[in-house]
This record gives sequence, structure tokens and C-alpha cells, in this order.
Amino acid sequence: MSSTKNEILTYAGYPITELEDVPYEEIVLLLWNLRLPTESELVSFRRELVSQMKLPAETVRLMGRIAKEPQHPMSILRTTVSLLGTTNDNEHDEPPRILAKMLTAVAAIIRIRNDQPIKRSKPDFGVVENFIYMFSGKRPTREQIEMLNTVMVLHADHEFNASAFTARVVASTQSDYYSCLTTAVCSLKGPLHGGANEQVFKMLETIKQTGQDPLEYVERQLASRQKIMGFGHRVYKHGDPRAAILREIARKISYETGNEAYFEMEEQIRDFMFEKTHLHPNVDYYTAVIYHCFNLDRDTFTTMFAACRTAGWLAHIMEQREEGCLIRPSSEYIGETNRHYHADKEAHLHE
Ligand code: CMC
Repeated sequence: MSSTKNEILTYAGYPITELEDVPYEEIVLLLWNLRLPTESELVSFRRELVSQMKLPAETVRLMGRIAKEPQHPMSILRTTVSLLGTTNDNEHDEPPRILAKMLTAVAAIIRIRNDQPIKRSKPDFGVVENFIYMFSGKRPTREQIEMLNTVMVLHADHEFNASAFTARVVASTQSDYYSCLTTAVCSLKGPLHGGANEQVFKMLETIKQTGQDPLEYVERQLASRQKIMGFGHRVYKHGDPRAAILREIARKISYETGNEAYFEMEEQIRDFMFEKTHLHPNVDYYTAVIYHCFNLDRDTFTTMFAACRTAGWLAHIMEQREEGCLIRPSSEYIGETNRHYHADKEAHLHE
């Protein structure tokens, strides 16, 4: 599991800076087992994930209807995850199969919304390679696989973030995996959490389309006490270590795909925000441009985050279930006490 002690992000004790190029599936096993897998464990896990990247026919049928509705893709994902918990074959679903289904569901939502047929996984492709193939319909290049692999690794887990905590609360009641994941998706959707990546790109698009000066735009937003999405973090006050790595990927892919105007705008805003507020960009700031360079629609960005984060959510759910301890905080009422119902009702009658 991950830790952010002293603002250093580690997965099971390994600093993230040493893991950015490690295959996503190896990171998943590290988070679940708290140790590095052997080569044969890794090979068989990879094979298992790829072979399970498919959805029950009844889920696909229902998704075909709900994913076409003009609903937000995160709402469609929320309903899809809930649906996955109602199919006949879900009873024996264990984390590897659940993760494979989640990756497949996100790719399928992206395809259905674009009126494109769902793709089947290819046994000779890796996990990240299949994921890109299944949402884009094209076999990715080595470079694309490496870039998205790093994005997925950096999003795999993040200590007690809101969605992981939400999942843990539900897991603590001994509820099932899909209930825990459904609620995690609900929590991630909000713009103060995973929904921030969509809002970042909305800001960049607005500035570009209206021909505004990015710094004047940001200054106006700050003056009216609006938050600039993709900045600030509850834990990192000196910079999000993931953002530093993602910035280089955003730079590279934006220039390669002719989207450098967005990246350069981000650079300007980043410097300005630091000067004005001392806030640093967080993980969602650069992924917005990266996902755009993968030809993804802005409103699907957070579903990508959900796909990557499922690994961490499952790690938290498993640990919480093992602990068997109900999360049930108590609250302290600080309002008026010593009140009497009948006396107050009587008084209201005469008001
Ligand atoms: N833009 C403008 N002002 C900000 C921002 C921002 N993005 N973030 C924080 N501030 C202000 C905040 O309003 C507060 O001002 P004041 O003291 O005048 O009330 C001050 O900075 C201190 O805030 P903080 O205590 O450092 O921040 P927090 O821990 O309460 O909130 C946060 C953390 C992530 C909710 C917040 O920074 C924010 O809303 N950021 C924008 C949304 C965003 O990017 N979310 C993604 C978070 S990271 C990845 C993820 O979870 O998905």
C-alpha cells in the first residue's frame, strides 16, 4: 500500500520515483501482496488479467443502452460497476477478474459513446497495450504504452484519498467488492478529487477558444475566489511528486501530437499560480493534456483515473475486509441542549 510520509510517495515502501517504468500489473501485485512478484507470478498474473478483459453479455447489452444516453461518463461507469455486481457470474469474482472487468468497462464506455464497436482483448498484447487498444481501437506504439503505463502506475494508489476511504467505509461493513467500488467511483467523480482533470482541460479549452490571455483569465478567477483546478493538495504542500513526472510526459506527448499550445499554456499558468498563491500543480493538472493527446474526450478523463485507481481501491478493500473492523466514527452534537418538545411546540403555536 502507499504512503505519503514527509511528502514522499511510496508503494509498499518503494519510492514512486523508482517505480514509474515498472509494468502496471507488477505494481498491482506489489500493492496487493506488499512484495514484488516473482517472474512466473508476474507472467501468470498478466495472462490472467488479459484473458479476463471481457464483460458479461448482459452487462454489455445494458451498457449499450445507458452509455448512449447523454449522461456523464462517470455516471455511466457508476451504473456499470453496480451492474457488474448483479450479473450471474459475479459471485466468485476475485480482485484480478474485477480489475480486468473495470479496465474493460472503461474502454467499452469510451467506445460506445463514440458509436464504435467494443474491442476484444488480444492474448499476445500486454495489459496496458490491451487497454489502449480496447479504448482507441488501434494497436499502440511502444512509446504510447510506456507513457500510459507510467500514468497508470502513478494513479494506482494514493494513501487515504477520499475514494479509497469511501471504499474502505463500505468494505468495513463486510459488503461486497462491487458495492465498495461503486461508491469509490461516486467519490472520485467530484471535481475536488478525480473530477479535477476534466475541469483542468475545460479551463484550457475555454482560454484557447475565447482567445483570452491565460494569466488574465487565472487572475480574474482568483480575484473572484474561484479555485484553479489541478492546483493544491491536502498532503503535498511543496509539490505533488507525481506531477513532476507527468509534466515531462505531457511535454513530450503534446509536442509529438501537435498539442503543444495546451502544454505551453499549462507552463505559463503553473509559474503564475506559484507566484500568486504558492500552490503547486497536482496529479490531475498534467493528465488532462496527456489524455487529450490520447484522443480522449474531456468528460471521459476521470473514467481513466478510475480504471487506474481500481488497483488501489481493491488493495484497500482487501485490507479492510481482513481487518474485520467496522468504521463507525461518532460525532459530537454542539447545538442547544436541554430542550423540551411540548414546551417548544406550544410556544410556536402562539408565535
Ligand atoms: N485554487 C485557488 N485557491 C486554492 C486552490 C486552488 N486550486 N487550492 C487551495 N486553494 C486555497 C484555499 O481556498 C485556501 O484559501 P484560504 O486559506 O483563503 O481559504 C488555501 O488555498 C489553502 O488551501 P489548502 O488548505 O492547502 O487546501 P485544502 O487541503 O483545503 O484543499 C484541495 C486541497 C485539493 C481540495 C484544493 O487544493 C483544491 O480544491 N484544489 C482544486 C481541485 C483539485 O485540483 N483537486 C485534485 C486534488 S489532487 C488529486 C485527486 O485527489 O484527484
